[in-house]
Amino acid sequence: MIAEAPASGGRRLRLSDTQCDFVDDPHPFVLFVGGVGAGKTYAGAARALLRRFGVARPSLGLVVSPSYPMLRDATWRTALDVWAPLVERVVGNEMRLVLKTGDEVIFRSADDPERLRGPNAAWAWIDEAALCHPSTWPITIGRLRQHGELGEAWLTTTPKGMNWVYQTFVVDATDQTAVHRAATAQNPFVDQAFVSSLRSQYSGDFARQELEAEFIADQASALIEWRWLDDARARPATYDPKAGAVVGGLDVAGPGEAETVLCVRQGDAILELHAWLDPDPRGHILDALRTWRHRGLTRVAVDTAGIGHYLARSLQDAGVTVRDVNVGSAPTSDEARERFANLKAEYYWGLRERFKDGTVKGLTDRLLLGQLAGLKYDHDLRGRVKIERKEDAVRRGIKSPDRAEALMLCFAPDGQPELAEMYRAARRLVVG
Ligand SMILES: Nc1ncnc2c1ncn2[C@@H]1O[C@H](COP(=O)(O)OP(=O)(O)O)[C@@H](O)[C@H]1O
Ligand SMILES: [Mg+2]
Repeated sequence: MIAEAPASGGRRLRLSDTQCDFVDDPHPFVLFVGGVGAGKTYAGAARALLRRFGVARPSLGLVVSPSYPMLRDATWRTALDVWAPLVERVVGNEMRLVLKTGDEVIFRSADDPERLRGPNAAWAWIDEAALCHPSTWPITIGRLRQHGELGEAWLTTTPKGMNWVYQTFVVDATDQTAVHRAATAQNPFVDQAFVSSLRSQYSGDFARQELEAEFIADQASALIEWRWLDDARARPATYDPKAGAVVGGLDVAGPGEAETVLCVRQGDAILELHAWLDPDPRGHILDALRTWRHRGLTRVAVDTAGIGHYLARSLQDAGVTVRDVNVGSAPTSDEARERFANLKAEYYWGLRERFKDGTVKGLTDRLLLGQLAGLKYDHDLRGRVKIERKEDAVRRGIKSPDRAEALMLCFAPDGQPELAEMYRAARRLVVG
């Protein structure tokens, strides 16, 4: 695609699809995560050219790169190249540019993030953001107040595990943030021989990070990988009268948890998600379920360990088929008991497998996606999988993953653990 800047002196830029989506994205905080040579730095410079220069009153922009050599050799150089027709004056010793539009841009390295403090800017671009210290982000956005308006910031980077960039744009994603991703091979302007040569040098997780731009889990493992979630987001889900049973999952807000969440699915399609802050959400839940009761709703799984018990009974009184689930209880089979610390771990693992298999569709809720991306698992002393407790996640600064919990309940398999347990007990009696 070819884009022309409003004041670019007739210079036209040709951009790849991802570069184009990134440059056009109107969110105040936008991330371009890409492999080595995916065209990230080029796209970061193009975004300034096409969105900022000569479009409003002259403003100040801030460009940040992790170290001075990276700033000088990559970011500054690419910016000069992409902005060439508009550059009026280069103040090289200050790493400052004045443009013909009256706009001005200063370049700073993030070696010492404290030194990023300075005059207010209208926009900021952080190149190779994932290599910058986490405090780079709050300090940079704290500067975006030129002309008394909140400015915008964009990040271009290769991922580096699940660090602050992942936390900010995936786990804590909001209506203000957006992510665009491109693998190295998706840059049509890069020499394919370069891509093949990198491919032959890189392998395993390193290749997935550096070439495919995936956020690779650190030791404290992510239960569900971001790329699986991203794929599930891209697959649309619709209700199909012929596709069988519709089921619900309900996570009831307990002390310290803000939301009661209802999730509805049909097969692997996530059809609906509701979250209520109301302390007594019974009416809302019944309203939300009403339409589904005419469309094949068979049951709603409710976590009845705590406060959910009462809500479950009242839904039952209103005619809803409720399946009580106590996620703290034992897994469903002897084999599962060997592998999982409790039912919650077994069910969450089942959910992980569905995402991994690439069958889940309709993961459109940003907060749900963020909560799923923030789930961590570990092994207990007996080597069984356990999921991080909500309380521990909250202590890590993550919001209580109530939406993820509702989804897990919604996908809980149909088996009857209580019944299975009774059979097992009966067999033990018989066999002796
Ligand atoms: N839209 C484009 N038009 C022309 N060349 C491009 C474009 N995007 C990237 N390139 C070229 O591709 C190469 C890699 O781009 P770069 O932005 O440096 O990648 P990254 O920052 O992702 O490592 C560079 O040579 C750059 O000039
Ligand atoms: Mg670059």
